Amino acid sequence: MSQSGNYTSPRRHLIAGNWKMNGILEEAQQFVAELAENPAPDHIEVALMPPFTLLHPLAEPLRQKGVQLGAQSVYHEPKGAFTGSICPVMLRDAGCHYVIVGHSERRDIMGEANELISKKLNAAWENGLEPILCVGEHLEERQDGETNSVLRQQLSVLEDAPEGAALTVAYEPVWAIGTGLTASPEQVTETHAFIHEELTRLGHDCRVLYGGSVKPENTAELMGCAGVEGALVGGASLQAESFSKIVQAAASVAAGA
Ligand code: 13P
Repeated sequence: MSQSGNYTSPRRHLIAGNWKMNGILEEAQQFVAELAENPAPDHIEVALMPPFTLLHPLAEPLRQKGVQLGAQSVYHEPKGAFTGSICPVMLRDAGCHYVIVGHSERRDIMGEANELISKKLNAAWENGLEPILCVGEHLEERQDGETNSVLRQQLSVLEDAPEGAALTVAYEPVWAIGTGLTASPEQVTETHAFIHEELTRLGHDCRVLYGGSVKPENTAELMGCAGVEGALVGGASLQAESFSKIVQAAASVAAGA
């Protein structure tokens, strides 16, 4: 395995909670109040991606706690007759810094493919949002030895990205999402090394997060793998207690990095 690239550089690690289609206002307010009881150390960044309806009400309380706000998706057009869609300016207006692009649930359930994902990335960059580009293989693809070619194809959306564009990548093996299965440390290390090499080849040097059944109990092991610079957390981010434990465990690992 090549060690080229500088993926061991100590960047500020990011723990991001993707609430998916969960959460109403009362629960969210309770969550933020509980989160405040365990503030994250400064050397780690924390972000939350609630559903669109909670962006505005959570923006100020999260800002006060030093937690970044992100959206789970975006549409690339600037405005107009796109019923049900949200554009980048609206996300900025709601206080977002991040936006998730290319999540496997959007690829698989909503049929989003590279062409649309490229447009979304460009729209995010043009409007000062930092995309978190999700990539990951299905179980059959891993079993067939196709993991790297799938990842290369998914990362090819970065070929024409502007130089120095703000970017975070999340490696989320689809078979590990919401299943309780996690990739082994060897799989994580090997796959993150491949992603960092691809990113270097494409002229990008950015954080690569791991996602897929991250829990308080497995955070230290996963965050301790070379090339892992944070986590994108689904189910375990819905409770402030478990999300805080993940943040604290990741912070301990990052402090020793
Ligand atoms: P889980 O943590 O629930 O497996 O979800 C991961 C994910 O898809 C985050 O974007």
